[in-house]
Amino acid sequence: MSGHGPAQPMTARRSGPLKGRAEIPGDKSISHRALILGAMAVGETQITGLLEGQDVLDTAKAMRAFGAEVIQHGPGAWSVHGVGVGGFAEPAEVIDCGNSGTGVRLVMGAMATSPLTATFTGDASLRKRPMGRVTDPLALFGTRAYGRKGGRLPMTLVGAADPVPVRYTVPMPSAQVKSAVLLAGLNAPGQTVVIEREATRDHSERMLRGFGAELTVEAGPEGQIITLTGQPELRPQTVAVPRDPSSAAFPVCAALIVEGSEILVPGVSRNPTRDGLYVTLLEMGADIAFENEREEGGEPVADLRVRASALTGVEVPPERAPSMIDEYPILSVVAAFAEGSTVMRGVKELRVKESDRIDAMARGLEACGVRLEEDEDTLIVHGMGRVPGGATCATHLDHRIAMSFLVLGMAAEAPVTVDDGSPIATSFPAFTDLMAGLGADLAAG
Ligand code: S3P
Repeated sequence: MSGHGPAQPMTARRSGPLKGRAEIPGDKSISHRALILGAMAVGETQITGLLEGQDVLDTAKAMRAFGAEVIQHGPGAWSVHGVGVGGFAEPAEVIDCGNSGTGVRLVMGAMATSPLTATFTGDASLRKRPMGRVTDPLALFGTRAYGRKGGRLPMTLVGAADPVPVRYTVPMPSAQVKSAVLLAGLNAPGQTVVIEREATRDHSERMLRGFGAELTVEAGPEGQIITLTGQPELRPQTVAVPRDPSSAAFPVCAALIVEGSEILVPGVSRNPTRDGLYVTLLEMGADIAFENEREEGGEPVADLRVRASALTGVEVPPERAPSMIDEYPILSVVAAFAEGSTVMRGVKELRVKESDRIDAMARGLEACGVRLEEDEDTLIVHGMGRVPGGATCATHLDHRIAMSFLVLGMAAEAPVTVDDGSPIATSFPAFTDLMAGLGADLAAG
């Protein structure tokens, strides 16, 4: 939805020990992909554990607009009756992807090689974000894009009637760009090749294979070479969506910094393209045990037992950034409670997320009494083991900024308010209830 209701301020106060079990919702990245690939398969895909956040609901609506039948049967239980690769119908309405960069970029890729026209828009945050990173490679297939200045939404895409396969080196680490090109390659004849210098989350590759596409990944001199054979008949699947490690990060980090806490977070994905935060937290001295390691829904998962810990600052290697790109806001909160400096370099992609996350975190942390340094590509937090708090932080329509500052408030000396908690519903609608259930003191207002 591009409409955004009134701002909903929320306040978190210093909380007693967090205790109990944190049931994290389904993975956002995998949920988008399950709906899109389900819509491109021939027949009925069944999905369990789908994230029912607004971002994913907007992608479900988009798939209906392109002709798939998408039905909710119960909490997290959905079916998608797909129309097959090349079977999309032309949508009668503007496709509104709300707050979701993943939704809009992947759907653009999926329709780009069909002979139809679609217009895309989103909320005030999404309308500021760059779409050229997707429409540039899609142009190589023959897709035309007409958007606002700077490649911004609203934007109309005219799909290629006679697409040609492409070979494309992704210029920035971006799973969304990689995935958009692969999805476009599905309806192009021959082999589409995507080269990534730095490996990013691989859910599209895993799921494309699961749906029966021919896809290979090999190491090459410039990085990882992904080759997709076009025009497969995708077979419908049963997809069990694992829990989202990016959402799990919030209760995990809260438990680390709220004194006396001990929580269990079951079934969190340990996909190595997503687990950079957990590697970093262990380096900082976090007491996290990975229990009952197993495979669920094609992803490695574990139950995480997390206890409050004395943490020290670390230097995060820049090459780890793609595997924890969404976790820097909450890491910067944890870093503020650590002793010593945490250095986060190579993070300029954070500037083009739902908000400029370096700026949003720096301003809010400073207002809460945290010392830091920043430049275009770097954030350094000087941890003092304690945070004064006592400020109102701006969230800029960004769910992860809102959740990060609320977690900060649970361990800070004075309460922390966020100006608008409503964006949390895009990825983690149950956040407030779940945290309150663990004992966190947070409330509207
Ligand atoms: C995502 C990729 C990342 C990430 C986003 C989800 C995906 O974005 O930040 O939350 O599902 O492919 P970029 O591709 O812009 O790095």
